[in-house]
Amino acid sequence: MKSLEIWYPFYQPAQDPPPLRIARGEGAYLYTDDGRQLIDGISSWWTNLHGHNHPRIMAALAEQTRHLDHVLLAGFTHRPVEKLTEKLGRVLPPGLRRIFFSDDGSTAVEVALKMAVQFWRNSGRPEKRRIVALENGYHGDTVGAMSVGDDSVFTEAFGSLLFPVERAHSAYCYRCPVGKKRESCRIDCADHLAEVLESGHDEIAAVIVEPLLQGAGGMIVHPPEFLQRVREACSRWDVLLIADEVFTGFGRTGRMFACEHAGIEPDLMCLSKGITGGVLALGATAATERIYEAFLGSEPDRTFYHGHSFTGNPLACAAAIASLEIFETEPVFERIEAIAAIHRERLATLRGHPGIGDTRQLGTIAAIEIAAEDAGYSSSLKPSLYRFFLEKGILLRPLGNVVYVVPPYAIAPADLHGIWDAIGEAVDRVQPRSRVPA
Ligand SMILES: Cc1ncc(COP(=O)(O)O)c(C=O)c1O
Repeated sequence: MKSLEIWYPFYQPAQDPPPLRIARGEGAYLYTDDGRQLIDGISSWWTNLHGHNHPRIMAALAEQTRHLDHVLLAGFTHRPVEKLTEKLGRVLPPGLRRIFFSDDGSTAVEVALKMAVQFWRNSGRPEKRRIVALENGYHGDTVGAMSVGDDSVFTEAFGSLLFPVERAHSAYCYRCPVGKKRESCRIDCADHLAEVLESGHDEIAAVIVEPLLQGAGGMIVHPPEFLQRVREACSRWDVLLIADEVFTGFGRTGRMFACEHAGIEPDLMCLSKGITGGVLALGATAATERIYEAFLGSEPDRTFYHGHSFTGNPLACAAAIASLEIFETEPVFERIEAIAAIHRERLATLRGHPGIGDTRQLGTIAAIEIAAEDAGYSSSLKPSLYRFFLEKGILLRPLGNVVYVVPPYAIAPADLHGIWDAIGEAVDRVQPRSRVPA
C-alpha cells in the first residue's frame, strides 16, 4: 500500500520542482534542511511582519502555552481574546466597534459577506442580497470568497458552485478599463461602480474591495481617490462597504490600514495574515455598531449563526497581542518607511527599462510588470523567474509576469538591495521576444 503523502497547494508535480524543506526561520531568513539561507522576499505569502521566529512573539506563545491551549468561544471567553480586542480597538478605524474572530483570510471574508446579507434581512430589506466586487479582485479560495474574486485559473473549475456577483471596474491604471491616461483622468473608472449602485442599490447588500491594492490580481495600486469614490457611492446608495485588508492591514502599505490613505472608513473590515505577525492562523471581521445592532433581538433568526471550532484561539491571540505590542514599543513604521524608500529608489532606476511595462508601489509592497506577450498569472515567465531567484538565495513567487517584493519589516537594507539587484538581472535576461510594447 502506498504511504500517505502531502498534497501541496498550488502545486503541479509534473512541472514544479519538489518543495524545499525548511528547518528554521530567523528574521528575514529561512534556512533549508541542508543549511541554505533564503531571503523571504514575500514574507511567506505576505503574512510575516516583524521577521521569522521573533523572540517577543515566540516568548508570548510559550507563556500562553502554560495557561490555556484552547476553549470554544461560544458561551466562553478568555483574557487573550479580550486583550487582543482592546488592542485592535486602538488601531482600527473608530467606527468599527465589533469584532468577530475566525480562522484565516478566506473565513474573514466569508463572515463579512454573510454579515452583510443577514444585516439587510434583519433590517427588513431581504431583497438587498447581491454583492458587487471589483475586476482583478482576489479574496480567498473558499467558495464564497472565490465568488467575489475575479475569474481566473483559480476559479475556472468551480463556476457551478459560485454565486453570481456583479463586477465593477478597478483602477488598474496601466491597463485602464476606460482607456484613459492617469495624468488626465478624473478617476473615470469609478463611474462604473456608481452606475451599478445607482441602478441596482435596491438589491445590493455590499461592495467588497481590496482597498488601494489588489494583491493576487497583480499588485495593482489604485489612486486613493478611487477608494473615496467607492465609499461615496456606497454611502449615497446605502450599500455596505467591505474592505478586505487581509493583505494590506498592519502597516503593509505604510499606514496601519490601507483605508487610512483615502481617509475613509468601511462598514466591515476583514483582517488576517499579519494580524498575528504572521505566526499563527487567525481571521477577524470588524463591523460598525449599526451592523451589530441589527443582529440583536429575541427572535432566534436574528442571531449570526456562524462560528469555527478554533475561533479566537488563545495561542493565536497571544501572538497577535505580542505583534501589536511590537508596533506600540518599537519603531515599526520607521522600518516600514526605510523599506518603502529603498523600493522607491530601486523602482526609479528600473522605470523606463525596455523590458518593464509598469512599476507599482505602496509602502512595503513593490512590483514590476514585465512586458510579456502572455501577461497574466499563467505567464510562461513565472517558472523560470521563480527558479532564477531561488538559485540566488531569494524567495520570490512572481504572479505570472508581475514580480513583486513584500519583505518582512525586519529585512536588512543590504538584503533588500540584493533582491532588487537580482530583479534587475532577471529583467535584463528576459528574452526580447516575450516583450510587448506597454
Ligand atoms: C486580499 C485577500 N483576501 C483574502 C485572502 C485569503 O486569505 P487566506 O489565504 O488566509 O484564506 C487573501 C490571500 O492572499 C488576500 O490577499
